[in-house]
Amino acid sequence: MSVRFIPAAFRRVASRVFLAALILASLAASAPPVRAPHGLVVSADALASGIGRDVLRRGGNAVDAAVATAFALAVTFPEAGNLGGGGFLLVRRADGQVFALDFRETAPRAIRPEHFLDASGSPVPQRTLRGGLAVATPGTVAGLWEAHRKWGRRPWSELVTPAARLAASGFPLTERQSAQIAERLDDFASDPCARAIFLRAGAAPHPGERFVQKDLARTLRRIASRGARGFYDGPVAQAVVATVRAAGGVLDEADLAAYRPVEREALVGAYRGHRVITFPPPSSGGIALLQMLGMLEKADLAASGPGSSSTVHRMVEVGKRAYADRARWLGDPDAVSVPTRALLDPGYLDARAEAIRDERATPSSEIAAGSPAELESDETTHLSTADAEGTVVALTTTLNSAFGAVLVASGTGVLLNDEMDDFAITAGAANQFGLTGGAANAIAPGKRPLSSMCPTIVERNEATARPLLVLGSAGGSTIITSVLQVLVGVVDHRMGLQEAVDAPRFHHQWVPDRLDHEERAFPVDVADALRARGQVLAVRVPIGHVPALGSTSDGAWIGAVDSRRGGAAAGY
Ligand code: DON
Repeated sequence: MSVRFIPAAFRRVASRVFLAALILASLAASAPPVRAPHGLVVSADALASGIGRDVLRRGGNAVDAAVATAFALAVTFPEAGNLGGGGFLLVRRADGQVFALDFRETAPRAIRPEHFLDASGSPVPQRTLRGGLAVATPGTVAGLWEAHRKWGRRPWSELVTPAARLAASGFPLTERQSAQIAERLDDFASDPCARAIFLRAGAAPHPGERFVQKDLARTLRRIASRGARGFYDGPVAQAVVATVRAAGGVLDEADLAAYRPVEREALVGAYRGHRVITFPPPSSGGIALLQMLGMLEKADLAASGPGSSSTVHRMVEVGKRAYADRARWLGDPDAVSVPTRALLDPGYLDARAEAIRDERATPSSEIAAGSPAELESDETTHLSTADAEGTVVALTTTLNSAFGAVLVASGTGVLLNDEMDDFAITAGAANQFGLTGGAANAIAPGKRPLSSMCPTIVERNEATARPLLVLGSAGGSTIITSVLQVLVGVVDHRMGLQEAVDAPRFHHQWVPDRLDHEERAFPVDVADALRARGQVLAVRVPIGHVPALGSTSDGAWIGAVDSRRGGAAAGY
């Protein structure tokens, strides 16, 4: 029987079950970390990591490698790697200088909150996820261009051309990709360009099929020869606008022409003597991570041990408080005032931590955002690179949902994001990740939606040495807790990098009041002890995807692949 005759709901359930089985199988089979003396790239895909490694070998630096790997992921990892999305890039040079480049998408200038409400004023969540209104002005190409202009070394075209070649020659589609396309078959079928590229007679391509993207190859060649203007001006820009508007959106060519990445001051905190460098708003990830670390600082997690009910309980309770603050206070710092310093004030965090009881979960209904303002007048992919000089890059980019809005700008091969869903349509309305927000993250023209993306670098105690950790995650709202858990695994529990990445994960985001956990996370006694404290447990697979890079005490780079969604490390 052809797939076309199987009812859509059944197909979706079947592909989800298959995806879950793939994930469980991969969790059981984790490879040892890759060691490299000179340079290393860790990403969600082996071909992309290999392209980055080749750039390093030719004398490119970590920024060049990150740019080349990101372009390659737009080809080989179309579920998240992108030209039509946005991201955050964090650089740390060997001398300790840090730079943070925000190329998050922006709301089109003609967008209005009312576009996402029905006649009675209620939110219509589907509109932030599908169709033209879901698409925010893409930032990726401008961001990669700017990062290269500021910190890169090799010629631009050398970084984009390998991706163009890969799009033209094709690559073997993985089982996971085939299953993911099957899961969103109806979405792919409803956009003629997406259908022509991603479907075969109405069905997902078979795993192993050579997947060729000719339009995308042409777009990449244009970007290789013209730089960012190859995307933001001319035929590609016109096609993006025409596609979005034909699907009911309001994006126009002026939005694309006006798009600019913003260099921001990186957030720098400390945890158990390590400098922790992470991303400022419009990422919520950096503030939430530093808040959670601040609230954990006085807890002896090493003594309570990894995976024990006391450790898990404490980490969950700090998470609830940080996510409550996220929902109340965080948004685009160019549009609202974000009380960053107050939210990270040690006194404020100590007071929040003191309210945590070891023996009982605080119900989320009893936790509100703090009032720190009195102290002062929200499918993604992460990659990390390191070069021989000691410069490292943590880069997270996203289309939001897997394959974004499943809308391909006609004739360009460019998949467009559905990043508008990272705004709060109305105060308290949950987005696809269950995250809520208020005025700080309300929709407004030109504004950047709040993100959970959290590229992070953790230094060793000696600032001159190669950093201990360079990491980030995919996974929507679970990005922040996934980064936290790998960091705590390495710093508090002295785990090896791969062990920390492999360790089972859990997640709590204040609302809903539920402790999600991977199936193997809690032995029966730990689960019972958590329930006895009042935590409400639910199984969820997988949580996060953390391709992590680090260094050994003898100075080699090491790369850990996260088998939850695969990937590869490539070094020399
Ligand atoms: O920026 C954010 O927080 C979301 N758009 C990230 C989406 C994501 O991670 C999806 N999944 N893997």
